[in-house]
Amino acid sequence: MQNRRPLFFAPDAALALVLALLPAPSRAQRHEDEKPTNLKILPADISHEDLHGVMEEFNAALGVRCDHCHVLAPGKRDFASDEKEHKRAARGMMRLTKSINDSLGTLIGREEVMKVECVTCHRGQDEPRTLRGVLTATATKEGAEAAVKQYRELRDQYYGRGGYDFGENALLETAREMERRQLEPAVVLPLLRLNLELFPQSAGTHVQLGRVLLEQGDQAGATAHFEEAKRLQPDNRWLQRQIQEILKGNEGGH
Ligand code: HEC
Ligand code: HEC
Repeated sequence: MQNRRPLFFAPDAALALVLALLPAPSRAQRHEDEKPTNLKILPADISHEDLHGVMEEFNAALGVRCDHCHVLAPGKRDFASDEKEHKRAARGMMRLTKSINDSLGTLIGREEVMKVECVTCHRGQDEPRTLRGVLTATATKEGAEAAVKQYRELRDQYYGRGGYDFGENALLETAREMERRQLEPAVVLPLLRLNLELFPQSAGTHVQLGRVLLEQGDQAGATAHFEEAKRLQPDNRWLQRQIQEILKGNEGGH
């Protein structure tokens, strides 16, 4: 999961560095049949784990599921297909986000700048509209009553999420970001533990916690969290493979 997002968010100059920081090659190894066949922006040799991490971030940032962008009907699972408009739009968005990050510092004349991510604009919405924009449009088209009704509905749905997202993935993503920035496990672990305190059902957090523990050499602790993740989401094949990759990567890297 390390260094995942910078693969396409980092400025070109930093990309070589980011690639150099990628985990041991063993973690990037994958079975032939799992190899992505239609990557135009992400690196073709991205590990399964990193790819899934990027995709999970898309889900969280836009408040959608994988099938928002991918063809996932019963009997037809085709992640490589570009059939869905949202997937094609997402590629444009990846380019947009990269270009913002490439130029932000120059444009405002500072070296240290924040990194723009999908969630910076989307905040958990597939269409990052503002309340002002939405209500004005509705009031113009359908009148005040419709706008008031819409306000109430949106408030029920989004209240408290506009500024900061306190949802299940927020601390998990924070911990992943910290890992990518190579912060010490001692800094990352308490955040993951806090997330499990708040969201004991968060399988992704169990996986991440297991991973950090494994890196610290705590095999038993790691196994317990991997098992709990599998228990919580027995049908999640992505998660199972993620765990396998972590275990494989750990064998190879130590
Ligand atoms: C907002 C849209 C969006 C969402 C949501 C999304 N993806 Fe993707 N996915 C993409 C785009 C765009 C690409 C291609 C990236 C590129 O061209 O480098 C992609 C590529 C992939 C690929 C590689 C396919 C291939 O063979 O080239 C896989 C696998 C994948 N996604 C899985 C997932 C999974 C699993 C989820 C849910 C956890 C998910 N995606 C959610 C947009 C999305
Ligand atoms: C600078 C702000 C910004 C960033 C960063 C951003 N988006 Fe967007 N995104 C928008 C806006 C604004 C729209 C709506 C465009 C429209 O329909 O008028 C949009 C629309 C989309 C859509 C299409 C929605 C639809 O209804 O078709 C997808 C998919 C999407 N974004 C995915 C992403 C992904 C994935 C990322 C990160 C790689 C991302 N966006 C980053 C601002 C942003």
